[in-house]
Amino acid sequence: MKIKKCLFPVAGYGTRFLPATKAQPKEMLPILTKPLIQYGVEEAAEAGLKEIAFVTGRNKRAIEDHFDITYELEDQIRGTSREERLDSIRGLIKECTYTYTRQIEMRGLGDAILTGNAIINNEPFGVILADDLCVGEEGIMTQMLKVYDKYKCCVVAVEEVPLDEVNRYGIISGQALDERHTQVETMVEKPTPDQAPSNLAIIGRYILTPEIFDVLRTTKPGAGGEVQITDALQTLAHQGKVIAYRFQGRRFDCGSIDGFVEATNFFYERMKQGK
Ligand code: G1P
Repeated sequence: MKIKKCLFPVAGYGTRFLPATKAQPKEMLPILTKPLIQYGVEEAAEAGLKEIAFVTGRNKRAIEDHFDITYELEDQIRGTSREERLDSIRGLIKECTYTYTRQIEMRGLGDAILTGNAIINNEPFGVILADDLCVGEEGIMTQMLKVYDKYKCCVVAVEEVPLDEVNRYGIISGQALDERHTQVETMVEKPTPDQAPSNLAIIGRYILTPEIFDVLRTTKPGAGGEVQITDALQTLAHQGKVIAYRFQGRRFDCGSIDGFVEATNFFYERMKQGK
């Protein structure tokens, strides 16, 4: 079945960026002139995932407004050179459809994804966490779709992280199939370094099959008292239904100040080189 939908869980508070995120969503923080969420939606659209599904929360209206026309502003700058600054977002608005549903209580990423069931229904779908900004010759979601086409099961993107950072991620281990693909056997959310089965960390890109929803309904809260997608995927990994994929490219953890600044510098250099 062809994948058309991409889910963006965007209900989180972004407390690491307070006070910037007091009255605006963290996903609207810009890397240069583009908000983080737009980079994510562009990656989905490039992969052909043009039905965009947001799981939002309170304080997230700016995201809906971003993916809509802003009449007064657009009227003001029509016919001026400033108008082209809107080209990228206008193109994206035309290219994709946008649907929203709200997560009422912040009960974790697993719960957010389960909330998205209302828009996804019974289809495989992509998930992008906009905090993880990824760049590659080929978009990371595009690469992951190829993995899905081959294995027809859930896919998580992974990369190696320093051992003293494993407690920030879902960590996987399993049987390496080749240089880039691993048949996942074990998944642990935010382990301590001595509990971690490896240093291969899940980054915010998933392809999930709809059976994940049934699993999520019975997944108990785990790390941090929250329902974790990692724990639900562990159930499917036991049945041989999860592949980890070491993606080609680079990822910036824009949920941290260091990663955010690195991404800003990277895109600034790129812009100066006219790319
Ligand atoms: C989430 C997931 C975690 C994953 C990470 C990637 O954690 O729960 O498994 O490794 O995203 O960014 P969060 O960053 O929301 O704490």
